[in-house]
Amino acid sequence: MTEVLPFTEEAIAAAAALIRAGQPVAVPTETVYGLAADATNAEAVARIYAAKGRPSFNPLIVHVPDLQTATRIGEFDEQATALARAHWPGPLTLVVPLRANAVIASIVTAGLPTIALRVPAHRAMQALLRATGRPLAGPSANASGTISPTRAEHVLRSLAGKIALVVDDGPSVRGIESTIVAATGGPLRLLRPGPIEVDAAPSSGAIEAPGQLASHYAPSKPLRLNAEAAEPGEYLIGFDEVGGYDNLSPSGDLIETAAKLFEALHRADASPYARIAVAPIPDEGLGAAINDRLRRAAAPRS
Ligand code: TXA
Ligand code: MG
Repeated sequence: MTEVLPFTEEAIAAAAALIRAGQPVAVPTETVYGLAADATNAEAVARIYAAKGRPSFNPLIVHVPDLQTATRIGEFDEQATALARAHWPGPLTLVVPLRANAVIASIVTAGLPTIALRVPAHRAMQALLRATGRPLAGPSANASGTISPTRAEHVLRSLAGKIALVVDDGPSVRGIESTIVAATGGPLRLLRPGPIEVDAAPSSGAIEAPGQLASHYAPSKPLRLNAEAAEPGEYLIGFDEVGGYDNLSPSGDLIETAAKLFEALHRADASPYARIAVAPIPDEGLGAAINDRLRRAAAPRS
């Protein structure tokens, strides 16, 4: 059952309780409705993917209440700071280097060393950020492959029964997703055009295709899939009954597996073993996104 509550203090309190319990909640922003989850909780973020039925992992935008909070998560150089001061709160997302000590779950950035941050202007999202005190990861609140939602009823059309709550505060005024600009050193790069015009050169298209980011994190070591046991020199990442040095989920739970995947790949990469092996993961539901990521990690690199 999906409850729809009009924006009130009580609705935000209910939404905040769900977020703290690790559940995603649909909430309006000025661009589109977002599906928000605690960005410090990997399983909560994995539930976003389960609800959206997304067949691949894509780094997500993290929403924060203000620039000061953003600077505790990302590194803002002069260009990034100037853009943030000019356009926040508002429909601008900045991709900046992720701080080493940031408490963001690595499923949020899909293992990347950068992070997309946005300070939204919408009163409902602002209220939720302040009530939870957590950075909130949030893609658009629609099933994968469907149109972005600008009303609560659009959210229900594709996510009814898949999430507990939609906060309804009428139509999103902007109606298109935020402008995304990368400020990671060197000239600014426009990753996605949107409501805010920024003087930045468009980036080479590849980075915008979901799940196909050129810079997408891949381990540096060869990776073998569907491994039932470790061969000599291999770091085995287990699943279900296939044990290993890491086990993504001893009980075979796919949400837990998605939550642990990127951490496990990073640990395997940093281990003394020369190669990585991963146990078979069922290809249903969230398993499809997990296997997509693993196949990319296993593909030969140029
Ligand atoms: O208006 C919006 O931005 C909405 C509302 C809910 O805030 N959110 C949204 O999220 O459109 P989503 O997940 O649909 O789009 C996120 C985009 C993706 O294209 C992703 O590739 C890019 O942000 N992105 C996120 N982190 C990135 C990173 N570290 N480097 C490059 N691109 C990144
Ligand atoms: Mg989207």
